[in-house]
Amino acid sequence: MKIAEDIYYVGVNDRKIDLFEDQYKVKNGISYNSYVIADDKVAVTDTVGEGFESEWLGNITAVLKNRAPDYLIIHHMEPDHSANIRRFLSVFPKATLVGSPMAFTMIKQFFGSDFDFNKKIIKDGDSLSLGKHELTFFTAPMVHWPEVIMTYDAFSKTFFSADAFGRFGAISPEEQSWDDEARRYYFGIVGKYGQQVQSVLKKISPLDIQIICPLHGPALSGDIKRRIGLYNVWSSYAIEKQGCIIAYTSVYGHTEKAAKLLSELLREKGCEVKVFDLARCDMSEAVAEAFSYGKLILASTTYNAGVFPPMHRFIEELTERGFGNRTVAIIENGTWMPQAAKVMRELLSEAKDIKYIQPVKILSSPSDENISQLKTMASELCES
Ligand code: FEO
Repeated sequence: MKIAEDIYYVGVNDRKIDLFEDQYKVKNGISYNSYVIADDKVAVTDTVGEGFESEWLGNITAVLKNRAPDYLIIHHMEPDHSANIRRFLSVFPKATLVGSPMAFTMIKQFFGSDFDFNKKIIKDGDSLSLGKHELTFFTAPMVHWPEVIMTYDAFSKTFFSADAFGRFGAISPEEQSWDDEARRYYFGIVGKYGQQVQSVLKKISPLDIQIICPLHGPALSGDIKRRIGLYNVWSSYAIEKQGCIIAYTSVYGHTEKAAKLLSELLREKGCEVKVFDLARCDMSEAVAEAFSYGKLILASTTYNAGVFPPMHRFIEELTERGFGNRTVAIIENGTWMPQAAKVMRELLSEAKDIKYIQPVKILSSPSDENISQLKTMASELCES
């Protein structure tokens, strides 16, 4: 697949994987992306995951025919991209590996110190000429590991962005919408490192980028400004969409009843609402949506003098990714000693700039007074 003049996609689709990084559901699989830049000199960018070496090496050979790559550029050492470095060098032993100092440290750790190769260690701003294609390297620590680099090709105006701008889902001709799976991917994989993503966005802001080649998902050739804008919103923890997320847990349906009543009240007032049953939903989707909307309602039953376990996990998923700058409303339920609200507030204590709405306390099942309180909560949420 041709991406731009002299640039070809040689990656693979993994459609058998169930959990990416052993935790994120990927019902449409995932791609491990690799590209060839075939100029006077030839560069291959990254390898692919374990088990896909034959297909990947076949793709490279199909593009290059009898030519051999001069360089393997290592943007990222996580094994979904680096697993086949040794195999690459066994087929193309004269190739030079290009990467950051830490990438070479990681190569030794993953492959063993007896692994001999030509190497070119690069630092931020270094360049490499392939002929027409002048490559400039940018270090991008913690997007998503510390060794990460990104590459800009001034000739084709192509930006090789490592994990950034990737999305879940194999690459297919009937392209799915990018935003939802890119958002879920961003907040799942990179979300903790918003500040580091901001640094990279600042660094690349002077570049004229026409094509983005990430390590997962399709190469992006349209809508570039909007996509970079979304990354700016996500990494600065700004609010992407107006509306509310209701995340609830409910053992016998009473807390669920309150959550659903609140969702109806909000919708009646014209507010966009998404509702997640945390015991059953895809947690990574709930997390991504909680970061995209400005208002979050947490509704949970008390459990073991604390909060119901999926709610505990959900709040931790948010706070470890820097959740903040949001309006939060809490609904708790308990039959003899409600504790959920107290514990939810404690769990959220490290989240910055949270504005709390008056909470609602349910004793076993929503009372008439609770229904009236939920009406007040809906009004406050709509006005805030
Ligand atoms: Fe797709 Fe951070 O690896």
